[in-house]
Amino acid sequence: MIMGQLLEMPTLTVDEVETDEILVPVGTGSVPHAIAAPPAIGIIGPGLVGSKLIKYFEDSEIAEITRVFASYRSAGDIIEVGGHPVQIELASEADYGGLFAVCNTAPAGFAKDHAERIADEAGYFVDASSDLRKDPSVPLIIPEINPDAIHHAENGILAKSNCTTTIGSLAIYGLHEVASLRSLSVSTYQSISGQGWPGINEFRQHVEAMLTRQKEMLDGRTYPSYPQSEVFPELTAFNVAPKAGTFEGYDTSEELKYKNETRKIFGLDEDVTIDVTCARVPVFNGHSVDIHAQFDRPISAGDAKDILAETPGVELHTGEDVPQPVNAVGTTDVHVGRVRQSELFGQYGLRLWATGDNLTVGAAHNIFKTVRLLISQV
Ligand SMILES: NC(=O)c1ccc[n+]([C@@H]2O[C@H](COP(=O)([O-])OP(=O)(O)OC[C@H]3O[C@@H](n4cnc5c(N)ncnc54)[C@H](OP(=O)(O)O)[C@@H]3O)[C@@H](O)[C@H]2O)c1
Repeated sequence: MIMGQLLEMPTLTVDEVETDEILVPVGTGSVPHAIAAPPAIGIIGPGLVGSKLIKYFEDSEIAEITRVFASYRSAGDIIEVGGHPVQIELASEADYGGLFAVCNTAPAGFAKDHAERIADEAGYFVDASSDLRKDPSVPLIIPEINPDAIHHAENGILAKSNCTTTIGSLAIYGLHEVASLRSLSVSTYQSISGQGWPGINEFRQHVEAMLTRQKEMLDGRTYPSYPQSEVFPELTAFNVAPKAGTFEGYDTSEELKYKNETRKIFGLDEDVTIDVTCARVPVFNGHSVDIHAQFDRPISAGDAKDILAETPGVELHTGEDVPQPVNAVGTTDVHVGRVRQSELFGQYGLRLWATGDNLTVGAAHNIFKTVRLLISQV
């Protein structure tokens, strides 16, 4: 069985990939067999994230996207992948045999119903959605942080963490390795593209509608009549809503994802406290996270900057050079700046700001690196 074999393998980094000849698992219960590289990859959902993922594979030589899947809305359409026309197949009915890995970038709901079958037919199912993240048998992979967790994908199913959690985790893991986290207080500023094309389309309608009400907005009389929201729970244009996702008790679904997934990725004890408020902001692309962290030993802002400057996946900004979504878009690192000592926790605490492109570092590039890691292990 493939995962049994992986358990015996030495640890590799995300960059160590051999592509001359690889062993391709066929189904999770079968023995890998050698075929000519590159391995075949399937992508479900060529939307905002999926189309970026396709581009990463096109620009690399580690694997080839041979099949693309979507819902009945796009099944039958032809798209160009790697210079070749590929006909989109209906994801729910396709047979995935022969693929090394299937990357799922369909919205939540699909993986719940189909992950097990697909992982059985193909080698791996790598999920971008939130469906399976709480399942203890499904590891959440951030290749810079926990590459060895791929060995715990018992059924060939792996997932990435929520995009905001990924950005926040990349910003602090280097510090956590030096001084363990004791508590975390986080405010997020999440962009519109976090809700895919439907979110972008609704935002555009909101912006257009609100622009015609400029006078009323300034007078404060129009808010009861703002445009109907369907994708987002509140008005997105010219507004900041501390309500990303839906309420589940006192926290929203996005806040619970941040808390639970951070614990899972870092293996944090229950006595490490995490407080999170997630807000949706009228930014097209790029999530930001204001982080206030307490550690179990003193760590100076100067030492923290030295660590962050050397942390893979992080680009450190210093002085008046502050990380912002407009500058982070299209990049594959998390941009960290405003690093300073906490007044609340003194030498045991730090305050910092992290910004990352939710579509790349928060999603497509993470999935690409995870597949690259899987290829490197066979
Ligand atoms: N956007 C982000 O920042 C971000 C970050 C991290 C994770 N994610 C996750 O990544 C996934 C994709 O997000 P996105 O922003 O790329 O969304 P998107 O732009 O709306 O794209 C969704 C894609 O999934 C396809 N799809 C929809 N329903 C499907 C179904 N039942 N079966 C198969 N394919 C289906 C759509 O194709 P059709 O035309 O056929 O509907 C479309 O190609 C979601 O699970 C999301 O939670 C997104």
